[in-house]
Amino acid sequence: MSYRIAPSILSADFARLGEEVRTVIEAGADLIHFDVMDNHYVPNLTMGPMFCEAIRPHSSVPIDVHLMVKPVDALAAAFAKAGAGLITFHPEASEHIDRTLGLIRDAGCKAGLVFNPATPLTYLDHVMDKLDMVLIMSVNPGFGGQKFIPEALNKIRAVRQRIDEHTARHGGEIWLEVDGGVKVDNIRAIAEAGADTFVAGSAVFGQPDYQAVIAAMRAELAQSRRIA
Ligand code: DX5
Ligand code: ZN
Repeated sequence: MSYRIAPSILSADFARLGEEVRTVIEAGADLIHFDVMDNHYVPNLTMGPMFCEAIRPHSSVPIDVHLMVKPVDALAAAFAKAGAGLITFHPEASEHIDRTLGLIRDAGCKAGLVFNPATPLTYLDHVMDKLDMVLIMSVNPGFGGQKFIPEALNKIRAVRQRIDEHTARHGGEIWLEVDGGVKVDNIRAIAEAGADTFVAGSAVFGQPDYQAVIAAMRAELAQSRRIA
């Protein structure tokens, strides 16, 4: 099992964004998690495609764009053009989920669905073959620095089972990412529930030594008891 750590630049110093991206990649980040909030689908306003284009030359790892926007399609296309590597969106925010997943892949990006704490997994039923990633929210979206909702562990277990069944039958690879309240002291339990990709905003950028936090997370992950 290879684990990926995706620091969320939502908690970075926006006045020094390029430098923050380079520093956190040197510290061991596998992806740069990029939170897009529109003050409509979620009650906060963050970064548009121009920010993605601006940090792209600073990033040697894929940019993992998490769209918390409604509608989705035009912005998904704009982020693909701006250099996103992966684009995830919330199914409730798209009128035509299958079409949105298709347009993200057609634009050359990996595509994924994001599930809020109370969003049912039924949205997965007919699109597993169109997914490269499933993102489980372990907080309600909109803000960094919130507390991990423990019920997310049950949801992660359920998604892990669906992914394993799907890939055993049809092949392919689907990453299982978790977002919200991920820290050094809970990352191991989250991995044991079945996640392989971990967003961490305040846990990483809230500390002066990003490398030390990421190393501590990897040390916890190395002890994870889930045999993949
Ligand atoms: C919340 C965002 C998260 C956020 C996580 O809506 O999607 O990516 O940055 O922040 P932490 O790790 O601080 O909970
Ligand atoms: Zn996010």
